Amino acid sequence: MEDYQIRKFTIGKPLNTGAVVMEGLVSEDFKADEKGCFSINTAFGESLCIDLTSKEISFNMPEDLYVYGLGETIRGINKRGWQYFSNNSDEPHHEEAKRSLYAAHNFLILDDGKKCFGLFIDHPGKVDFDIGYTDPDLLTIRFEDMDFDLYIFDGKEPAELVKGLRGLTGRSYIPPKWAFGYGQSRWGYKTADELRAVAKGYKELGIPIDMIYMDIDYMQDFKDFTVNPERFPDFPAFVQEMKDQGIHLVPIIDAGVKMEEGYDVYEEGVKNDFFCKKEDGTNLVAAVWPGKVHFPDFLNSKAREWFGDKYKVLTDAGIEGFWNDMNEPAIFYTEDHLKEVFAEIKNLENKELDIWGFFQFRGLIETIANNPEDYKRFYHDFDGVKVRHDKVHNLYGFYMTRAAGEAFERNNKDKRILMFSRASYIGMHRYGGVWTGDNMSWWSHILLNIWQMPSLNMTGFLYSGADTGGFGCDTTEDLLMRWIQVSMFTPLFRNHSALGTREQELYRFKDMNSFKNMIELRYALIPYIYSEFMKAALNDGMYIKPLSFEYRTDKRARETEDQILVGDSIMIAPVYQQNKTGRYVYLPEDMKLLRFRSYNDFDEEELPAGDHYINANLNEVLVFLRPGHILPLTTPAQNVAALNFRDLSYIGYKAAPGSFTLYTDEG
Ligand code: NOJ
Repeated sequence: MEDYQIRKFTIGKPLNTGAVVMEGLVSEDFKADEKGCFSINTAFGESLCIDLTSKEISFNMPEDLYVYGLGETIRGINKRGWQYFSNNSDEPHHEEAKRSLYAAHNFLILDDGKKCFGLFIDHPGKVDFDIGYTDPDLLTIRFEDMDFDLYIFDGKEPAELVKGLRGLTGRSYIPPKWAFGYGQSRWGYKTADELRAVAKGYKELGIPIDMIYMDIDYMQDFKDFTVNPERFPDFPAFVQEMKDQGIHLVPIIDAGVKMEEGYDVYEEGVKNDFFCKKEDGTNLVAAVWPGKVHFPDFLNSKAREWFGDKYKVLTDAGIEGFWNDMNEPAIFYTEDHLKEVFAEIKNLENKELDIWGFFQFRGLIETIANNPEDYKRFYHDFDGVKVRHDKVHNLYGFYMTRAAGEAFERNNKDKRILMFSRASYIGMHRYGGVWTGDNMSWWSHILLNIWQMPSLNMTGFLYSGADTGGFGCDTTEDLLMRWIQVSMFTPLFRNHSALGTREQELYRFKDMNSFKNMIELRYALIPYIYSEFMKAALNDGMYIKPLSFEYRTDKRARETEDQILVGDSIMIAPVYQQNKTGRYVYLPEDMKLLRFRSYNDFDEEELPAGDHYINANLNEVLVFLRPGHILPLTTPAQNVAALNFRDLSYIGYKAAPGSFTLYTDEG
């Protein structure tokens, strides 16, 4: 008997998105009144009202109701007080003013500290979650089409509702063990020698590293599944050379396929009708990095199988991990829209531009990329059903990653392959993790990272993390150090930055020793991190939780969003502000402070529950051990494979021997 119940309501004629794997759940009967409304009872006296006419769901939110969920998006952990659109977007400006990022994670938990319920809306088109934005006391969820399955989760605790979502949509993806190591990435590493230099930079200082990422620059003219032969002569030998140093190379794969005669992926896709088509039956022509591209129709199972098998080109060369990018899909322009823009500009050319004309002119240029109208120009063959892209937009990244995941299950049965994606939808969590996209080297984005992690965990995306140090803009040494002090606890731990920004490999900075200490501390913690991750994955739980999930009736804990629980034993309270050498920390119960400078240099101090100002110099990380719990540590090694998972030391706080369950396996 599970500790959650699920009720299903089928509204209209939904497509099967593939998010749900639970079988045998039958939709409940309902009857709309003469106005087209019906209600669903909830744990609160209040009902959810479904209005089929105005195409919305509404719920009166009691004053002390918290709303959690939505996975990867902007703003805090309690989502109340803003409007969010599930509309996967190539959005490089992760600002408070925005409403969408790269993901559609349509899961909410409504909790007043005593009662709760959850809901998952399995709808692949745009969904508008107005969580007290228009009216502070009203949750309104708006749709363009009323075709979806609505699942209601009932249980006593938020954690049970999370478990319910996972029971419904399947177990979270588990990466190889080495993927819990540290990785260095940058857009702009062009040659094997440049990658060798990165490896050397780390090796010379003895800083542990498990992965070096390859961005689009490794490809021949940005063509998927190609490797530039001049810049990477004998690629398989190079992959092996890196492996001999304990480093996995992890290449990027993009959604768009370059249109080029003689390029096998392009030619096979055209021949077999595997690309997305326009109304007139011709392939959509869009542009991304390679110039003109076609988009594979990942929603078609034959096309998916074909594209998935292409990863073999790289796995045969020894590659064991990938990241899928630009799969919202990002569109720089479509051929058709560009023509329209040029025509309109011509029209304006000889006119004197008044202010409105000027705005119109500027708007034409500004809205070329990722134009919403372009997503209405092409169609999918969703296994026999022709669907316009915008109706299933949020599935595209999921299905690209599914293509890879299904292929790995076919072709690499005996191995776990690393996979994470930029765009996602619930259901994709079975096939890969996510990184949180193009953040900036801003202090506020460290905090955003802290907020996003528990929300991602709620929606099943356990293997996740941010571009540490910031992707856009120039990083600084202190910002990178503080960000590492957060990312050293996230399963995906990758330093990545954009072309043209300040280089941010750790060996480029002054206090390399402190960076080394931090990365070594991460490796010392891997037995704990891996154990807690695996327990969360195998028990449909969360690896990173908000305090409120554990201290549910403690108002202060509920409102504390800049401290998070990592696994069952510890809470972290990162410093995320410039020039700060300490911070206020709220302890919901007595805890033991561990102030780490390195894995074998730390202070221990028992602190009573309540508020404390805690010092933390730039080279110090604050970890709080919960009573009755244990934190295991190992001796760091140069990579995960060399770590000793058996001879561990343990720090305990009011804990009986044996009160930690260690999980390990062959990875
Ligand atoms: C966009 C991705 O978000 C970023 O991580 C990557 O570096 C660039 N594309 C170039 O591939």
